[in-house]
Amino acid sequence: LVARRLVGRHVIVTSGPTHEPIDPVRYIANRSSGAQGTAIAAALRDMGARVSFVTGPAEVPPPEGVEVIAVQTAQEMHDAVKAALPADVAVMAAAVADWHVSNAQGQKIKKDAEGHAPSLQFAENPDILAWIGHLTQDRPALVVGFAAETNDVVPHATAKRLRKGADWIVANDVSPATGIMGGSENAVTLISDAGADAWPRMGKDQVARRLADRIADTLEEM
Ligand code: C5P
Repeated sequence: LVARRLVGRHVIVTSGPTHEPIDPVRYIANRSSGAQGTAIAAALRDMGARVSFVTGPAEVPPPEGVEVIAVQTAQEMHDAVKAALPADVAVMAAAVADWHVSNAQGQKIKKDAEGHAPSLQFAENPDILAWIGHLTQDRPALVVGFAAETNDVVPHATAKRLRKGADWIVANDVSPATGIMGGSENAVTLISDAGADAWPRMGKDQVARRLADRIADTLEEM
């Protein structure tokens, strides 16, 4: 039985990868499954929160009982998060592409007769977490970001917390040997103004429930 400690609270959760088009049939993506973001949305829902779940094309289905806003690109995700404000909490668990293809074509790119390969050009995407973290109006009371790192996890995530204006960063080591990316378990360190709190390795559902509990604790203390 879960205590419904988040009744009356609105939480925005981003999840999954983004797809950045090259042409109408091709895109650039990443290996995010959406599993951790989906588990977080479900845990917050179970505690009674109203959840706006802004998701890229994930492998796992979205949870029931949340408002699902399905997007493809980082720009669409940014627009959807903006439209979902105001919120008490924002949890940005999506693996947003850092770049989009600035010379994407409106028609399928064809092979040319001389065998020249096309060149893709890239432009930076909006950083949704940094944008929401630095809002001066309508900033959620608690902004939580993620940091998937392969080395020096705590120093990188600590710097990221400050740079992005986040209250918390949930940092994890996604080196292939950990099996975390695409797997069912996670080992995270919660970085806050109080420092770094390393949680033991546990299921992504358990990480989600523990994070939702910490969120409820914090809102109740505010
Ligand atoms: O800088 P990095 O991509 O490692 O930061 C990860 C955190 O920032 C995650 O919480 C992710 O959801 C968020 N992010 C974002 N928009 C971007 C890039 C990352 O919201 N364009």
